[in-house]
Amino acid sequence: MIVLGIETSCDETGVGIVKDGKVVLANIVVSSLKIHSKYGGVIPEIASRLQLESVTGVYCAAIKAAKIKAEEIDLVAVTTGPGLPGSLLVGVSFAKALALSLGKPILSVNHVYSHIYANILCYRNIKLPCVALVVSGGHTSLFYVKDFFNIQVLGQTQDDACGEAFDKVAKIMGLGYPGGPLIEKLSRDGNKHKIKFSCSGTRGELDFSFSGIKTAVLYYLKDNPMKIKSRNANLAASFQESVVNVLIKKSLLACKRKNAKQLLIGGGVAANSCLRQKLISAAKDEGINCFFPSIGLCMDNAAMVSGLAYFLYKRGVRDSLYLNIQLNN
Ligand code: KG4
Ligand code: ZN
Repeated sequence: MIVLGIETSCDETGVGIVKDGKVVLANIVVSSLKIHSKYGGVIPEIASRLQLESVTGVYCAAIKAAKIKAEEIDLVAVTTGPGLPGSLLVGVSFAKALALSLGKPILSVNHVYSHIYANILCYRNIKLPCVALVVSGGHTSLFYVKDFFNIQVLGQTQDDACGEAFDKVAKIMGLGYPGGPLIEKLSRDGNKHKIKFSCSGTRGELDFSFSGIKTAVLYYLKDNPMKIKSRNANLAASFQESVVNVLIKKSLLACKRKNAKQLLIGGGVAANSCLRQKLISAAKDEGINCFFPSIGLCMDNAAMVSGLAYFLYKRGVRDSLYLNIQLNN
């Protein structure tokens, strides 16, 4: 079964073609990141206009890369939320037009859950149920995944998302946007023990809070104004270290609470090599098998949308052309 997925929840335009929920035939993503970087964050109106311009080209490139004809598509899948309304509407409108013109079914996919599914595309040995952590620019949540119909929220951020904290701290430090990769790169030259930061306490033991550490970085630079000029590697490394440590601590605690032996990580922050190395090693010490998608599948992409849609469709989930964007999930 060939599923064509469309992902336009934030600034990327992605079209992915996946066979039988596992074999990625094409995964084309274009991003308007360069244009947003001069504003220090995504401007929704610019993102959706550029998606409108690029979606047809990305679709054609995916069909070409997969070496299939459009008629061979069995199912059209699309991210319906959460995300930016204008951006989601571009993907949903394109998906409806495609499904209607091909006479094929359409299925709605949740963006956050598709980040978890990216792991299933990469590894054959994952068995549900498991615990999952999604860390992106818009989300930081721990889940108990019984299967992809039955996903229980164990904890989530009370304020900023983890990727958002990376982006804001990079902005405060004058590094640019997006902040995650820039902080990671600068951290390599820094001493992570130089400055003591900690993430604030939370109501629930599996919740997160990142706004306090962001403010702590801001005050550190106010108190030490010269440090902002010198691309402060120690500051970047110390910030990254505390964020990574809290993600590790809570993910392992969630596994303990649910007696889970498998942990799946997804979302843009999962590309962070410090998090990848430390969490895999810490999980191993606890007898937990920890999975990260390949770097390309951590970021927003549509192969994960196609993969999850296959899983749901095979289990009887159906939608109609009346499906719409969903902002509250
Ligand atoms: O999942 P994603 O591509 O888009 C959303 O759904 O939000 O995640 C984007 C986020 C951005 O905040 C970006 O700074 C962060 O992922 N990110 C990273 C790294 N690469 C991307 N954060 C830390 N380290 C990285 N290497
Ligand atoms: Zn995402």
